[in-house]
Amino acid sequence: MTLAVGRNITLEDALRDAEARYVQANPKSRARHLAARRSLPGGNTRTILFYPPFPLTITRGEGACLWDIDGHLYTDFLGEYTAGLYGHSHLVIQAAVREALAAGIVLGGPNAYEAELARLICARFASCDLVRFCNSGTEANLNALCAARALTGRSHVLVFDGAYHGGPLTFAHGGSPMNLPFPWVIAAYNDLGTTLPLIERHARDLAAIIVEPMMGAAGAIAGEPAFLQGLREAASRHGIVLIFDEVMTSRLSPGGLQEKLGIAPDMTTFGKYLGGGLSFGAFGGRAELMARFDPSHPAALPHSGTYNNNVLTMAAGVAGLSQVFTPEATRALNDTGDALRERLNGLAREARAPVQVAGIGSIMCVHFHDRPIRGPADAEPANPAARALFHLDMLERGFYLARRGFISLALPLTAADHDAFASAFEDFVATYGAVLRDA
Ligand SMILES: Cc1ncc(COP(=O)(O)O)c(C=O)c1O
Repeated sequence: MTLAVGRNITLEDALRDAEARYVQANPKSRARHLAARRSLPGGNTRTILFYPPFPLTITRGEGACLWDIDGHLYTDFLGEYTAGLYGHSHLVIQAAVREALAAGIVLGGPNAYEAELARLICARFASCDLVRFCNSGTEANLNALCAARALTGRSHVLVFDGAYHGGPLTFAHGGSPMNLPFPWVIAAYNDLGTTLPLIERHARDLAAIIVEPMMGAAGAIAGEPAFLQGLREAASRHGIVLIFDEVMTSRLSPGGLQEKLGIAPDMTTFGKYLGGGLSFGAFGGRAELMARFDPSHPAALPHSGTYNNNVLTMAAGVAGLSQVFTPEATRALNDTGDALRERLNGLAREARAPVQVAGIGSIMCVHFHDRPIRGPADAEPANPAARALFHLDMLERGFYLARRGFISLALPLTAADHDAFASAFEDFVATYGAVLRDA
């Protein structure tokens, strides 16, 4: 399977060979991609899922396994970018969805599940007295930001360079032309020295500070406790709404990363796995902020969405949180993640490969250099070809993960899966360590 790497092979040569083997092994994925291009721009309806030469078409999932259209089997270490926490066919989730489905969908009224899911979420995330549902993490952030602006009567939002809060809230590489036209104040992550003066300068205009307590898409970069605490204090000092985007990180301890850090934001946004693997978003926070969404309030803030309380998501979310992802299961999953990350880092060091794995608990990202990573600029790949080679090589070995090296662990992964992944990683760094060092 793995090619014998010659002494003088370069990273570019290795990638070219890996791509050639990938094209040969995946004719049906290639054909489906080409056909999709006729009606979807680039054959794609979700930018992150495109990678050259063409993405695999996934046709089936079960437990922690995925199959592609050419019949290859993968162990899933991507976990749908954290949304796939329960795996692809958890019996409890399936039963909840089946039961809700049997009682009918699109009911057009409050249903029997939504208040229970809200109760479970408020019970787990201590800073949330009240919560509202929507359909995605992006929507959750839009709602939280718009609420902060409406409630403070201020316009500006402080965000961090490199942050990702959803499609129209993308701050990597200088921002996106698709971003919402809010007056943004862009600060540097994990850098209180430059962020605090910015907050002071714009304090009168700032409605919100929105921050991922660990940057996910930027490369699983943990927020330093002193940095996040500094944001908390500055927000309180100036009456700015501090929003923790925990769309990814809420799974990192029973009460979210905020609980691990001991920092209470004013509002929190959620998404991903909390809907049991179905479309989901939520935003919550302190009662005096969220109470303005009470429709009987004389100055109620509107918040609509046909599918906000769709029965399938609400039922799957309740079942998952109450029966499967218990506080004990949360701790256990994240402990196995810490152990795997440390193991991978040990293997990279032993091979003297310029590779490191950043992250916390069940969320991690493989980086192809050995410089310290405190912010998104540090996470920029020294050579993007290294990421592509790792991705294609691991796919060839039967492990599914993101092109950018992102990994999130799902509950059905076993110790044997972790061992197999670590052994494939060990082989990768042994095979390509010298090539990566020379690149
Ligand atoms: C931190 C963070 N916020 C928001 C989002 C957007 O969530 P969604 O894709 O559900 O819109 C994501 C998605 O990856 C995310 O990682």
